[in-house]
Amino acid sequence: MKIEPLDLPTHPELADAARDLLADAARADGVEAFSEQFVLGLSDARLWHRHLLARDGDQLLGLAACDDASCELVVAPSARRRGVARALLTELRGRDVWAHGNLPAARALAEKEGRKMARRLLVMAVEGEALREAASFEPREDVEALNLVESVARYGRDLVEEQWLAANNEAFSWHPEQGGWDRDRLSRAQEADWFAEEDVLFLWSVEEPVLAGFHWTKWHTEESPAFGEVYVVGLASDFRGRRLGDPLLRLGLAHMAGKGAERVILYVEADNGPAVRVYEKLGFHIAEEHAVWSPA
Ligand SMILES: CC(C)(COP(=O)(O)OP(=O)(O)OC[C@H]1O[C@@H](n2cnc3c(N)ncnc32)[C@H](O)[C@@H]1OP(=O)(O)O)[C@@H](O)C(=O)NCCC(=O)NCCS
Repeated sequence: MKIEPLDLPTHPELADAARDLLADAARADGVEAFSEQFVLGLSDARLWHRHLLARDGDQLLGLAACDDASCELVVAPSARRRGVARALLTELRGRDVWAHGNLPAARALAEKEGRKMARRLLVMAVEGEALREAASFEPREDVEALNLVESVARYGRDLVEEQWLAANNEAFSWHPEQGGWDRDRLSRAQEADWFAEEDVLFLWSVEEPVLAGFHWTKWHTEESPAFGEVYVVGLASDFRGRRLGDPLLRLGLAHMAGKGAERVILYVEADNGPAVRVYEKLGFHIAEEHAVWSPA
């Protein structure tokens, strides 16, 4: 077995093999090993991901991908328990590694390597009757709900995107992936094939064109029946503490229920107690978890 660094966007045939390996692993594990960004990074050179391949002749046994913050790692189901992950991890010394699903194999591997769980990200879900109850948005006098298409028609794209970015960066100043966005980062996010302007919802202050909050929903058609996601939700600093969090969430849930969602999920940091409690109150429960394992 050889471990070698390789730039996958300039090797499309190997990027295809990597996607096949990821599909095999998802079938075996019931969870995707790579997040959306790392899947995009297999072929999008603009993301500057670094790739590490474990190969035996022509056969791809395992794969790691890293950006500046962290790495993700997967081994082909047919090549497991042969030390492939350990060999890849040796090259990822000093780097944080994500374990999507935080499955027993990943936990056993990470613990054996002396790593510590530094971050736990929860997937919470609300379904059926509980979703129908949470999916009700009562119009209010202080804010008006408009989606991205309607907002751009009323205020122009520059104003909308600038205020959207400002609110996003205020709400996520502390967040490693969602914070510090610029117009370019926002444009790239809108290039995703699932992106739909109608699914981005805003609450605008009725007094002036000032954005109070945004609820960016994501419609997942990769599974049947399709389901919704509370993708990113945030309030601008000036609008915190005005009880707008609950209506902002309900606005998006009502939108997704209106599209026929029977299930809505969201991701939240396990240590964000106040947010977890808000979601639990709305009927969400913990469905899955993801972890970052840091070097000891
Ligand atoms: C987790 C994963 C990467 C392990 O890959 P692997 O190549 O099978 O792991 P290795 O053969 O290098 O195993 C190294 C050690 O980890 C532990 N381990 C790995 N898989 C295990 C399992 N299923 N059960 C118990 N321990 C396990 C063992 O201690 C093993 O050493 P041993 O075989 O000498 O007992 C693989 O199962 C995978 O791709 N899972 C999905 C993606 C994922 O979870 N990635 C996150 C990794 S942090």
